[in-house]
Amino acid sequence: MKVSSKRFVILCLAAAFVTPAFAQSSGADIYKAKCLMCHGPDGMANNPAGKALKAVSFKDPAVIKASDAELFTAVKNGKGKMPAENGKLTDAQINAAIQYVRTLEK
Ligand code: HEC
Repeated sequence: MKVSSKRFVILCLAAAFVTPAFAQSSGADIYKAKCLMCHGPDGMANNPAGKALKAVSFKDPAVIKASDAELFTAVKNGKGKMPAENGKLTDAQINAAIQYVRTLEK
């Protein structure tokens, strides 16, 4: 019992050190790690995976017009061939990535 609860504490400490480092990463970092492979560095999905999966360009008027909440839902739950990030990214990380997407719309 003693050993396993000690291990639990160590795991919690490890998680506490690792999680904030990722949580603090900027929208740009999250985008590069999780979105760029399909949406491309400029958000225009002109890269092979983006073309193959028909990822949308962030300069598409439909994306520009969509509310943050709509884009959030699409990223969180997935849309078409885009995989859901639900459980893989926190809501705050998804929001940060969407704020970065907004900078690519221009
Ligand atoms: C595996 C490839 C892939 C990855 C990874 C991916 N996307 Fe997508 N994304 C797509 C595709 C394909 C669509 C078009 C979906 C559709 O309309 O059918 C899309 C659509 C979108 C849209 C438009 C949604 C809408 O409502 O029209 C946004 C915004 C978006 N992605 C943001 C992101 C963000 C932010 C990430 C990273 C967290 C991400 N995507 C990761 C493939 C991907």
